[in-house]
Amino acid sequence: MLPYLDELLVDFDELGSDAGLVADWLGRHGIGAGARVLDLGCGKGAVAVVLARALGCSVTGIDAFVPFVDEGRRRAETGGVAGLCEFRAGDIRSEAAKETGYDAALFLAVGPVYGGPGETVGVLRRCVRPGGLMVVDDAYLLDRAVDFPGYEVLLDGVRTRAQLASHGDEILAEKLFTRAEAEAQNRRYQARIEERGRRLAARRPGLASDIAAYIEKERRECEIIERDIQNAVWLLRRIG
Ligand SMILES: C[S@@+](CC[C@H](N)C(=O)[O-])C[C@H]1O[C@@H](n2cnc3c(N)ncnc32)[C@H](O)[C@@H]1O
Repeated sequence: MLPYLDELLVDFDELGSDAGLVADWLGRHGIGAGARVLDLGCGKGAVAVVLARALGCSVTGIDAFVPFVDEGRRRAETGGVAGLCEFRAGDIRSEAAKETGYDAALFLAVGPVYGGPGETVGVLRRCVRPGGLMVVDDAYLLDRAVDFPGYEVLLDGVRTRAQLASHGDEILAEKLFTRAEAEAQNRRYQARIEERGRRLAARRPGLASDIAAYIEKERRECEIIERDIQNAVWLLRRIG
């Protein structure tokens, strides 16, 4: 479905993260005009544009999906912050190592690209200066392991927090989303994707079964998100 992903996801700005929360946290911890923020797996650049507009910081966003990178540039242009936002296509598994000295680094709803939470923070902390901030939007297991691609690396809450702090960094804040919040977001997400899928299938009947399979996979993932895992966002400060 990759060539059609931007069409199926056209109704969404952030793809699973909360730009308002990130802006609030970074603003309260000193990110403003002149600060440099790195957004790894930036999607359509929605968070980057909100941060540049709200805080006046500059943001570098990197994402592997070229249509999203193009959309990020368009959004920055329309939002009047093209001078503060730079979007680049690239694989963050190799690109992150080239980025250093940022005031903050974001890793929002990207999944297990670097492994578990400890490995993720290990990558982010090399991108920021000592004292720099890191925001990780991820999840942890509630009662049992989950059999679904991408979720096999999830740990329980205690182990997740221990791994996040395993490099000696400070966890400054944690936001846990309630089940009701997850359900509301999933209902909205699912309804829009199904509607876009119907329109695409009407135009390209040959894709109908692939679209149905994609929608079913999304539905199963929503079920897991609501039943088996806790969505969470953490703000950390690099120590040392
Ligand atoms: C669920 S979206 C979240 C996007 C954005 N962080 C947000 O909150 O709106 C995950 C993004 O990670 C990107 N991604 C996943 N693996 C990647 C990789 N290895 N290199 C670059 N981008 C990657 C995908 O292309 C996608 O845009």
